[in-house]
Amino acid sequence: MTSEKIIAKNTGELNKLAAAKFISIAREAIKKRGKFTVALAGGSTPKGLYQLLAAGKFRALVDWTKVYFFFGDERNVLPDDDKSNFRMANENILQPLEIRAENIFRWQTEIGNAEKVAEDYERKIKEFFNLDENQFPRFDLILLGIGDDGHTASLFPHTEALRESEKIAVANSVEKLNTNRLTLTFPTINGAANVMFLVSGESKAGVLRDVLQGEFAPDEFPSQNVNPKNGNLFWLLDEKAAQNLA
Ligand code: 6PG
Repeated sequence: MTSEKIIAKNTGELNKLAAAKFISIAREAIKKRGKFTVALAGGSTPKGLYQLLAAGKFRALVDWTKVYFFFGDERNVLPDDDKSNFRMANENILQPLEIRAENIFRWQTEIGNAEKVAEDYERKIKEFFNLDENQFPRFDLILLGIGDDGHTASLFPHTEALRESEKIAVANSVEKLNTNRLTLTFPTINGAANVMFLVSGESKAGVLRDVLQGEFAPDEFPSQNVNPKNGNLFWLLDEKAAQNLA
């Protein structure tokens, strides 16, 4: 596993560096295997990256018909809900790039029951990657954000999903949010060929120092569990987020 920190001056440069990394991974995957599989991150940070990928020069650099989009996590809301990670991606990259429906694998939250949504998503992933019973998918790229409590995807501190070692995708009860979230598990994240954290802004400076340079406390700071076994880990940070790093 290789780990690399890339620090940008500001959010605009961060998105450009992240887009360039995304494109280079995509082009290599398509060249080698004829397709590129990516699990998108939710939240607000990646919005600018998605808009950049869908516009101008980056758009022209990838054959988007060979890109297959998944989601690292989801809120258990309908796809048109303003809290939906799918909706944010749909508005900022999927629709602008006119991605075909058959290239989009979202959590089918209309099923309603969170456990059943997670089982359905796991089935979709197993089918797409043609997995045997105990196999995990190898995404070409998994994009992640980090919360100011150290969570990533919907793997929140002291929640059950942190210990999941067999399932690919689970429902995760998050008491502090009083809700069930939907998330890929750490074995899935750590099976990826490339994992990219995108972290921007002063509000993340404290947690980033704790996660990267504090004591190893993965229940407290779940992002510390991200270590792709046979893959590359990229931390794309802007200066404000990285300001507390030694
Ligand atoms: C979500 C995300 C979550 C997000 C972090 C950071 O569903 O909210 O997957 O893990 O990446 O909470 O969110 P921001 O980018 O909004 O700070």
